[in-house]
Amino acid sequence: MINVGIYGATGYTGYELIGLLRRHPEVKLTFATSRSFAGKHLSDAFNTVDNLPLITAEQADPTACDIVFCCLPHGTTIPTVQAALAAGARVIDLSADFRLHNRAAYDQWYKHTHSAPELLAQTVYGLPERYRAALGEARLVANPGCYPTSVILGLLPLAEAGLLPDQVIVDAKSGVSGAGRSLSLANHFVEANENFSPYKIGHVHQHIPEMEQELTAAGSEVHILFSPHLLPINRGILSTIYVRLARDIDPVTVRNLYAKRYDPEPFVHLLPPDKLPNVAYVLHTNRCVVQVQPADDRGNWIITSAEDNLLKGASGQAVQNMNCMFGFAETTALPL
Ligand SMILES: NC(=O)c1ccc[n+]([C@@H]2O[C@H](COP(=O)([O-])OP(=O)(O)OC[C@H]3O[C@@H](n4cnc5c(N)ncnc54)[C@H](OP(=O)(O)O)[C@@H]3O)[C@@H](O)[C@H]2O)c1
Repeated sequence: MINVGIYGATGYTGYELIGLLRRHPEVKLTFATSRSFAGKHLSDAFNTVDNLPLITAEQADPTACDIVFCCLPHGTTIPTVQAALAAGARVIDLSADFRLHNRAAYDQWYKHTHSAPELLAQTVYGLPERYRAALGEARLVANPGCYPTSVILGLLPLAEAGLLPDQVIVDAKSGVSGAGRSLSLANHFVEANENFSPYKIGHVHQHIPEMEQELTAAGSEVHILFSPHLLPINRGILSTIYVRLARDIDPVTVRNLYAKRYDPEPFVHLLPPDKLPNVAYVLHTNRCVVQVQPADDRGNWIITSAEDNLLKGASGQAVQNMNCMFGFAETTALPL
């Protein structure tokens, strides 16, 4: 049994995480924090009968924890991570603050100076399908972003085989929970409902360096053009990825590459050739479903990849990482 603390329990990822950890046979929840609901219970913040007490971060004691999860906005999480590590707890950070190995890249893409660059070198990027072996010893795990998980898993077999071209185009759509629980004009009901909007298109979105970092590390340097869209649904991501491969590449070879890579993976599924991913395949599961198919006879290929942004794209992946870190069965407490 391990003791687990959660910082930022009243956001969408924190709440999802609590639901998973409540079902985990090896976990005891020791604290859950919130600023706005401190002194109240989880049932005050969500439509749940779970009476988990909520306390401030200052009241939380990470020395009592084997691991803490940080479900805080990026830019606010670093002091909390530092304090938890100093207290002897292992950490899974769901924010973007430790995902980039290169401090200058973080400063540039997130537009502020990283205050703990010394921790970047010892962070494991928490994509178990790629870094499972390193998770057992990891003290700090950077849980991947939601869009990056769908895109990296969609392209990993090509990257690892050295087949990925130097430029990839990604058209991705996310449900509104991807933006978190705080209100902004764009995710206000009247703005998002019955609407469908692109945002931060081109080479602008802050998830791009993470995708490029990981796909480059898996193969060779890649540049990603990325067009995210806000989809008027609660949760779910669908990424449609365009790549150009050699004209004469055998489609069976490519399909076999994906099948061989993902057959052993409990949470990544290559769909049968006649099926395409959609969000209904993945909602409320920790699955990522993938399809890879030639688009024409000119070497153009389309890869489609779907996941639930709050599970495989966030809290489900975080629990998968925790299971790997502590030697629990990787699928424990996770909806397949
Ligand atoms: N939503 C997704 O699909 C998704 C997917 C992957 C990764 N992530 C990342 O995971 C993290 C959490 O995302 P989320 O969607 O759960 O966010 P969220 O719904 O906005 O929740 C944020 C949580 O942090 C607390 N918080 C807000 N501002 C804070 C501050 N300045 N200092 C300390 N605590 C603060 C909030 O509660 P109080 O205000 O009561 O303290 C809340 O508990 C973010 O870094 C996000 O980028 C999100």
